[in-house]
Amino acid sequence: MPSDFINGRFVDPATPDGVLEVRSPADQSDVVGRHPWSLAHVDDAVSAARSAFPAWRRLGQARRAELLRAYQSQLKLHADDLARCIAREIGKPLWEAKTEVGAMVSKVDVSLGEGAAYVKDTVIADLPGEIRHRPHGVAAVLGPFNFPGHLPNGQLVPALLMGNTVVFKPSDKGAGTAVLMAKCFEAAGFPAGVFNLVQGAVPTAEKLVTHPGLDALLFTGSVQVGQRIVAANAHRPGLMVALELGGKNATLVLDDCELERTVRELAFSGFATAGQRCTATSRVIVTKGIAERLVERLAAAARSVTVGHVFDDGVFMGPVISEATRSQLLAAQAKAISSGFEAVAPGGAVEVSGRRGFYVRPAVHVARGGVTRVAGYTDTELFAPDLSVVTVDSLDQAIAVANETDFGLSAAVFTQNGDAFERCADELRVGVLHWNRSSAGASGRLPFGGIGASGNHRPAGILMGQSCTYPLAVLLPQKADAPLPSWPGISF
Ligand code: SIN
Repeated sequence: MPSDFINGRFVDPATPDGVLEVRSPADQSDVVGRHPWSLAHVDDAVSAARSAFPAWRRLGQARRAELLRAYQSQLKLHADDLARCIAREIGKPLWEAKTEVGAMVSKVDVSLGEGAAYVKDTVIADLPGEIRHRPHGVAAVLGPFNFPGHLPNGQLVPALLMGNTVVFKPSDKGAGTAVLMAKCFEAAGFPAGVFNLVQGAVPTAEKLVTHPGLDALLFTGSVQVGQRIVAANAHRPGLMVALELGGKNATLVLDDCELERTVRELAFSGFATAGQRCTATSRVIVTKGIAERLVERLAAAARSVTVGHVFDDGVFMGPVISEATRSQLLAAQAKAISSGFEAVAPGGAVEVSGRRGFYVRPAVHVARGGVTRVAGYTDTELFAPDLSVVTVDSLDQAIAVANETDFGLSAAVFTQNGDAFERCADELRVGVLHWNRSSAGASGRLPFGGIGASGNHRPAGILMGQSCTYPLAVLLPQKADAPLPSWPGISF
């Protein structure tokens, strides 16, 4: 079965440049799929999307919405296959993969309803003038591995609804999930060339992000790759580049928090998806009156986490995505410990019987002796289940420590004091803020995206339709009885 979908057909490369082999991080003996790729297909896909754009744009939003509804029906029909594929490819437990597919389905409702309402054309009667919204044209969507369905889906759906045609390049770790999504687009009956899929790793991505045929580029992934994309496109200021680049997210816990809720939400923030969410908490900043009790409860929660294979019952956490991620984590934890952090819930690699996977224990490390920052640990997105805990004297200090990062994606604050929360809302440099809720996750009915090293524009969430369009200012004719224009120094 071919893995690329171009101009309305699944196609194998005539001369493949390589074959992606996706092995499950939960068990390296599980080969989830083999996907041939070719750089020539990038040209073919962009060219198909370019040819399809004028008719797709003219089709109108109502008809495009009908097709997206048909795509949604296909997602529902294939929900089990999608969830099983996501679980195997990414290593997230099946219960969690199912919630991802659920989010894909509901994203269609939200995008077609409330999302579209944020991109309504507006008439300014007394000008007279109008703000209209135009699609960019051909949009490339480059997806991440951690939500191989949900995150690209959250860009593809609004991009298509607004009248763009797309070329989707999934993560090389989530190639099979992307094939299943392409099957849903195919079965929904989209016109040829509107949705295209190209597989591959770095060479495919490099070719796509520098392709002259693009009008927009929507990327979710690491800050290092995001910076390379921006640099490679410095000569094209007209290209819309929307970036969702992760975070080093802080949770602030104040003395008056409701401890039981805080511990549960915080454990989820740190350890769900094995810490591989852009919105995961990796830094806990706690005021001193509650610190000891919080640490004790959090360490107990971490030790209780069942780590295991994606299809085993009762598993909360699967593996991290690769040996490289695991090695980086273990090295960072060793450095943290040698720099003054105490492992109250020690991390480290863990064996899951009969499985060759990249499993680790969820960890909690507490800063001792005044240390708050360790290069490579507290300042680096490790994308793994590890909570560093720093104790502070006051809310002021908590905010200052939380802002000691170049990232600015998500934060959470646990307090029962509304004034304290409002101070955080004013002063924390983030794009998404949670009050007495986990920092991990987001509402599709709100904007999503970060500031600083976490990205730009709104690369996801309810305002995605705005990122998929540009506003056209239309000045309408003056009233018929308006005086004719005249200027000094010119006669008519
Ligand atoms: C993420 O944290 O990686 C994505 C959050 C979401 O959209 O739920």
